[in-house]
Amino acid sequence: MTIPTITLNNGVEMPQLGFGVFQVPNDETEAAVTAALEAGYRSIDTAAVYGNEAGVGRALAKSGIAREELFITTKLWNADHEQPVAAYEKSLDLLGLDHVDLYLIHWPTPARDLYVGAWQGLEELYAAGRTRAIGVSNFLPEHLDRIVALGGTVPAVNQIELHPALQQRATAAADERLGVATEAWSPLAQGAMLENPAITAIADRLGRTAAQVILRWHLQQGRIVIPKSVTPSRIAQNIDVFGFELTDADLAAIDALESDGRTGPDPAEFNAA
Ligand SMILES: NC(=O)c1ccc[n+]([C@@H]2O[C@H](COP(=O)([O-])OP(=O)(O)OC[C@H]3O[C@@H](n4cnc5c(N)ncnc54)[C@H](OP(=O)(O)O)[C@@H]3O)[C@@H](O)[C@H]2O)c1
Repeated sequence: MTIPTITLNNGVEMPQLGFGVFQVPNDETEAAVTAALEAGYRSIDTAAVYGNEAGVGRALAKSGIAREELFITTKLWNADHEQPVAAYEKSLDLLGLDHVDLYLIHWPTPARDLYVGAWQGLEELYAAGRTRAIGVSNFLPEHLDRIVALGGTVPAVNQIELHPALQQRATAAADERLGVATEAWSPLAQGAMLENPAITAIADRLGRTAAQVILRWHLQQGRIVIPKSVTPSRIAQNIDVFGFELTDADLAAIDALESDGRTGPDPAEFNAA
């Protein structure tokens, strides 16, 4: 299985489709990530706050897959905006790795106003060659503009909630303007769109599942996606999305489903630490 890559703004190649482990308990993560690696995924998305970096690390070690074939992302939690280097080192310890491929600021938490300093910490890690790429998550255009205006490193990625019910056109446009790759979290809207009649009609016509149709909608627009599942058959199904195409009319029909169906917090208001 060859997964297409997206070339990030620093030249690093990132698989366009990866495997997310949000809400997977640490003791179930090794099995889920093992199933994903066996199905052909090579990019894994975790975060310090998910509490399952150790489980991810066990699966990676057990797999025997060469490190350079893997693309591992983790994220700096909000409480650690003032100690990004120490937090990075703790994540590496738990993962059993000497670097991750992409390190993200998980949320801007704008009312705390510490994300600029956190970004400068990530820039230090990147400049020292300790991670292959740095980026952000849940950044709105004003947060992106503020860190880009510092004149240092432009984030390689902005990982945001994005699916047919929440299409984030303003943030995706800001990402594009600044050369930041958009990565969709909850690409399947946590399952909420799988019975939508516009999507199931396309799936039935193509002999595919609704989840596969939604993933194709993302991929054909150049986005990175990281669907999560703990169910081996779904894990395999979600990576089997490179042998068919949606038409322009299919893409437009899904574009028309925007409904502000947010599944997670609003980054403008989420300030938990
Ligand atoms: N940066 C952030 O703030 C942030 C926030 C949220 C998520 N994320 C990342 O994005 C990843 C994906 O998002 P997510 O986990 O919220 O949601 P998601 O991938 O949109 O959906 C996952 C849900 O859909 C189900 N599912 C998956 N594939 C399916 C299929 N083929 N058919 C039917 N149901 C299917 C899963 O069930 P089962 O597992 O029971 O099979 C699970 O309940 C996360 O794991 C995490 O890595 C990042």
